[in-house]
Amino acid sequence: MNIKHFLDHSFTESLTDLAGSDTPGIVKQAQRAEFGHYQANGVMAAAKKLKTNPRELAQQVISTLNPEIFTTKIAGPGFINIHLHTSFIAGELNKLHEDQLLGVDPVEPTKIVVDYSAPNLAKEMHVGHLRSTAIGDAIVRILEFLGQDVIRANHVGDWGAQFGSILAYMDRLSQAGESLSTELKDLEKFYKAASALFKTDDEFADIARSYVVRLQGGDPKCLELWQQFIDESIHHSQEVYNKFDITLTRGDIRAESAYNDDLPVIVQELSEIQELLVENEGAKCVFFDEFKGKDDKPLPAIIQKSDGGYPYMATDLAAARYRTRVLNADKVLYVVGGEQLLHLRQVFAVGRAAGYIRDNQEFKHLPFGMILKSDGSRFKTRDGAEVKLIDVLNEAIDRAFVLVSDKNPSLSEVEKQEIANVVGLGAVKYAELSKNRTTDYIFDWDTMLSFEGNTAPYLQYAYTRIRSIFRRASLDSLEGKIELAEEAEIRLGLKLLQFPEAIESTLDDYQANVMCNYLYELSGFFNTFYEQCPVLNSENPTSRLLICELTARVLKQGLNLLGITTVEQM
Ligand code: ARG
Repeated sequence: MNIKHFLDHSFTESLTDLAGSDTPGIVKQAQRAEFGHYQANGVMAAAKKLKTNPRELAQQVISTLNPEIFTTKIAGPGFINIHLHTSFIAGELNKLHEDQLLGVDPVEPTKIVVDYSAPNLAKEMHVGHLRSTAIGDAIVRILEFLGQDVIRANHVGDWGAQFGSILAYMDRLSQAGESLSTELKDLEKFYKAASALFKTDDEFADIARSYVVRLQGGDPKCLELWQQFIDESIHHSQEVYNKFDITLTRGDIRAESAYNDDLPVIVQELSEIQELLVENEGAKCVFFDEFKGKDDKPLPAIIQKSDGGYPYMATDLAAARYRTRVLNADKVLYVVGGEQLLHLRQVFAVGRAAGYIRDNQEFKHLPFGMILKSDGSRFKTRDGAEVKLIDVLNEAIDRAFVLVSDKNPSLSEVEKQEIANVVGLGAVKYAELSKNRTTDYIFDWDTMLSFEGNTAPYLQYAYTRIRSIFRRASLDSLEGKIELAEEAEIRLGLKLLQFPEAIESTLDDYQANVMCNYLYELSGFFNTFYEQCPVLNSENPTSRLLICELTARVLKQGLNLLGITTVEQM
């Protein structure tokens, strides 16, 4: 049960009975929520409507509520302070044991498309892709946990002029008898070599340009070469997803090129809407008053360029149209960097005007900031190149291996390696997710791999501490009831009950850091509980063990929703 919902519901019911139907009761966690305090608002608004004294109305509301669950007190001009009874908390905890969803109420499913990761296939994934990939994957995991009907959309870039150089270079290499599969092992090098030739070798540049034309014209040999490159590149990104425990698969890719046939149709459809599509210096554009550039000049959304080519805008409109007409999405979330804010605003505005996005659909951009080095500069290699994501992941694992070996030298190599994987990758993901997504953040190995503070290793370690209690207890089964007496266990118990609320607030604005903070606080409460309340040596070890078990389950599930795994010992 989501306690906040339950309280909201009780108060709204009472308020509507007393004051009419349009006055919701709004309950929130009070400042000292860990002690079972909530506060109800809404009485004042209702009293105003009824022209009655708010404190008197509050008194009436209170008299209708069930005193077995909580005590209430009127505060200030008409707030109601709520204090949950310990027996109620214990009772709810006991129900959690049977509940796969740990108290979360499943939703009536709606169809939600989450557009995330979406690398450009001409190159290898770099560290910048960490954000969209990790944030998007956490969002889909959480939505699916609630029972939503989620469609992962990996809108990879696989089309455009950049592929001219790549194809020309592939052609040149195979004519020189080089093995393409060897050359394509390092896409980054390959792309660099091809673009360098494009800049320095005029003959090559001409061939590259002719390849673009041939590719767009559907030349079979060209398409075959292109497909070979794309397959290789997808293979590279899938390797990163697998290593990083990202739930994207090949089937989730719907690349830009998948919309090629729709692009002329879009232009046609837009031109049929009066005064929407206009010619501007040979390009077909849509102008809206709300989009102005520097000097207040109107800013066009370019749908078709003067040379006949279709820009990013056109593909994104086609994708919006597809998501509406074919996928029938209720909601589409775009986990895309903040620098594309204007682009997506234009996509949404044109999409709405064209009927590709309907009034009852929500299309929402979830922007994020940049990853910086500790000196505040952009995260690049020393020579200014992008840092490959796979290199970052490998380094994380290597560093975690050193850490784990230090912490627990008696483990076998295999165990150390397994733990290093989980801790290293967890640290990188958690560092990403525990920050407010809209701001830039500093990528710092030492902080993210620390066993202290709001980090993955800290949470993963808290989990192993609980598991070690169970190893020592060596129980066959655990049956009985939770009883709460000590303050530290009441606080921990209530925190466990607030897992559904944590999920709900995480989805308010799709901020994974809300879930991170919850798990961090939960671990802190557990540590206090463990210091103050003996478990195996207590009078009622069963109750305490049950609390430990629930804590482990919530921690593991919470981390899992963030895409982070746990180990039994470290
Ligand atoms: N491939 C794009 C890029 O690398 C990101 C695509 C995001 N999704 C979208 N529907 N525009 O910038």
